[in-house]
Amino acid sequence: MSLLSLRGVTCRFGGITALNRLTLDLPAGAITGVIGPNGAGKTTLFNCITGAYRPTEGEIALRGESLVGLPPHRIARRGIARTFQNIRLFHSMTVWEHLMVAQQGGGLRASLAPLGLSGPLPRRRAMAALERFGLEPYRDRLAATLPYGVMRRVELARALTAEPALLLLDEPVAGMNSQEAADLAALLHGLSGSGLTILLIEHDMSFVEQLCAQVHVLDFGTLIASGTPAEVRRIPAVIDAYLGVEA
Ligand SMILES: Nc1ncnc2c1ncn2[C@@H]1O[C@H](COP(=O)(O)OP(=O)(O)O)[C@@H](O)[C@H]1O
Ligand SMILES: [Mg+2]
Repeated sequence: MSLLSLRGVTCRFGGITALNRLTLDLPAGAITGVIGPNGAGKTTLFNCITGAYRPTEGEIALRGESLVGLPPHRIARRGIARTFQNIRLFHSMTVWEHLMVAQQGGGLRASLAPLGLSGPLPRRRAMAALERFGLEPYRDRLAATLPYGVMRRVELARALTAEPALLLLDEPVAGMNSQEAADLAALLHGLSGSGLTILLIEHDMSFVEQLCAQVHVLDFGTLIASGTPAEVRRIPAVIDAYLGVEA
């Protein structure tokens, strides 16, 4: 079953076509990869899905319901969370504060307030996130003082405190050492196993091969190939556009 569907999604900036009539379906409960050279439109795809950009044309739907034109916070509330290519944490906030703030202002919090759950529930969720991501030792550290791999885990924990159905990860491995990447792969594998749907932009092909059932290849905003990682690796257009150096 498809969780997210894109139909003919085009996103232009002046003369640049960052996404060109992109059509794809994201199966629920799987990790799907997006690869392609720099400037291919990968981050623009995430920006269109999350409402940061409005597509020039086309349709994006979550479980059949259109997302186009909704503001980012409403799309987030429907169950889509993301991390950013460049880490976006608040330097002078602690890990704990990040996890608590991530849960504020949502409809859920407001609707639970009359039941007296608005206090304990966010705390319980934040504590669960600390434990799940191995962040207890860093609970009261300011974000600015954390090692890089830990910052990435805080971003991921923050994205997941809202309990999304779909998680968008924009180059999460960039800057990680091999141990941090292996830990992240195990974590994502576990999240996927518990039903989370993940769309992963990543340059590290071994990471993609390890996790993704299906990969989509973008080049100049156009979808040039889709298939298993092993399949797309063999497609000449993909080798030309992207894998040439490696192959
Ligand atoms: N806000 C924007 N304004 C103008 N051009 C943009 C904007 N966002 C992205 N682009 C352009 O769209 C193209 C795709 O960018 P991007 O989606 O960031 O690629 P990728 O993430 O694959 O490296 C690039 O040419 C980029 O310069
Ligand atoms: Mg990008």
